[in-house]
Amino acid sequence: MKPIALTGIKPTGKPHIGNYLGMYRPALDLMENYLGMYFVADYHALTSMHDPDLLQSLVYEVAASWLALGLDPDQAIFFRQSDIPEIPEFTWILSCFTSKGLLNRAHAYKAALDENLELGRDPDEGINAGLFYYPVLMAADILLYGSDVVPVGLDQKQHIEITRDIAEAFNRTYGDILKVPEGLIQESVMKVPGIDGRKMSKSYDNTIPIFAPEKELRKQVMRIVTDSKRPEDPKDPEEDNLFSLLQFFASPGRLEEIRQLYVHGGAAYGSLKKELADLILEHFAEARVKFEDLIADKAYLDRILLEGAAKAREMGKPYLMAARKATGID
Ligand code: TRP
Repeated sequence: MKPIALTGIKPTGKPHIGNYLGMYRPALDLMENYLGMYFVADYHALTSMHDPDLLQSLVYEVAASWLALGLDPDQAIFFRQSDIPEIPEFTWILSCFTSKGLLNRAHAYKAALDENLELGRDPDEGINAGLFYYPVLMAADILLYGSDVVPVGLDQKQHIEITRDIAEAFNRTYGDILKVPEGLIQESVMKVPGIDGRKMSKSYDNTIPIFAPEKELRKQVMRIVTDSKRPEDPKDPEEDNLFSLLQFFASPGRLEEIRQLYVHGGAAYGSLKKELADLILEHFAEARVKFEDLIADKAYLDRILLEGAAKAREMGKPYLMAARKATGID
């Protein structure tokens, strides 16, 4: 049997090209050598998203995105996190092997705390315990199925380390029961700039969505921030986020031509933006058609997700049983 590569995507925003380059594509590429387990992490989303209709619709969007971008549900195990009742159960067991200090130092919680302190507010203002427990829930996602590798962006590295710590603490107590996973860190995810030049992220509102209507996608690309140089002025391609984005989609030959235009003059931002929009639409042409079909058929998406969940639960059972037995709560 192939080793397991597992990863989850939180349904808190519309899938964008930063997600695609940093996450969907590298994760799907792993399927040559791994059994892929991919899921929609809706329990994690609940730590920050309290609008039920929005959460529902984003779950479907993320599910349709995985499938449209090439996930084959017959090859991979594809499911919704909340369809696995073993997850909250396992989260509790693992929490009893998680040092609270470890969670105090987790980035997302610590950032919220530091912000409160900075603003002179009560340290815990607006922070729910779900946010504090977030890394334990993630450890349960990973450890329940005996995952071998976890492909994630750099921002999730600490969560993988915490997962390893939890597994090791459990194993120190009861013997070698949980598999200690390896993170497969996709450094390049940091290097996909958003339209304002910062890392592309829904929290900066600077994304280029993959499946938005063509007009909206084009508009977003035209909003890419550039400096005020004229077309004939020489420019440094390495310093320009429009060029960085073109790098991901232009052919090597065309990219070299564009580079020369930057260096020697002749690169007009407006027409290059239009070219980038064309390239993105072309790159995702097939996926965009598939996405439209999938998002219109929620019953199909539900069925695929439930079939995947049944397989995932089978994979998880032996680990949960072993963990329960080891602790004596069996
Ligand atoms: N926390 C991850 C993120 O925000 C999503 C996630 C949840 C995840 N559970 C996981 C990723 C398990 C990998 C493995 O991107």
